[in-house]
Amino acid sequence: MGSTITLFRGDITKLKVDAIVNAANRTLLGGGGVDGAIHRAAGPELLEACRTLDGCKTGEAKITPGFQLPAPYVIHTVGPVWHGGKNREEELLERCYRNTLELSMKHQLTSIAFPNISTGVYGFPKALAAKIAIESVKEFLGKHGPLPEVIFVLFDSENETLYSTLLKK
Ligand code: APR
Repeated sequence: MGSTITLFRGDITKLKVDAIVNAANRTLLGGGGVDGAIHRAAGPELLEACRTLDGCKTGEAKITPGFQLPAPYVIHTVGPVWHGGKNREEELLERCYRNTLELSMKHQLTSIAFPNISTGVYGFPKALAAKIAIESVKEFLGKHGPLPEVIFVLFDSENETLYSTLLKK
């Protein structure tokens, strides 16, 4: 059967899915926002594991165990910082979703939860980011057959409205 896309309003660190996605920075050494929440919930072993990964380029994705998280894996991806839209930001954000799904396929994961990558500290406009997230996930699932259950995790009401409106279309 195909894949399903669902929405979850709340804290991604609580989700018992195969992998939660971290909106990290290129050092992979932790930060604020969802990155900080995931490292706090996973415990210090996550930082140790990230240290061995030698960072991550914008648009790329790398996987680690989830340690003390309910999710056995974390897929770290680095979203683009919004600089007005003329620096390939849209393409790089699309790559985050595509590379993360490719990595989840490689590891035969069956459920994956995304935060709203780049829309916090990195300042990416929420409406455009929501459109890119849903379109790139739908396109990938359409091409790659039975794939993971994809959950979009919304942490604020604006994103919740954006995603539920877009998914109704
Ligand atoms: N669960 C789910 N979503 C969350 C959580 C949480 N516990 N905490 C924050 N978020 C949401 C934010 O509200 C936002 O919608 O995650 C989305 C992404 O925001 P950020 O975490 O700020 O990530 P981003 O905009 O991609 O910036 C990445 O921030 O934390 C640093 O180290 C990180 O430098 C990197 C930068």
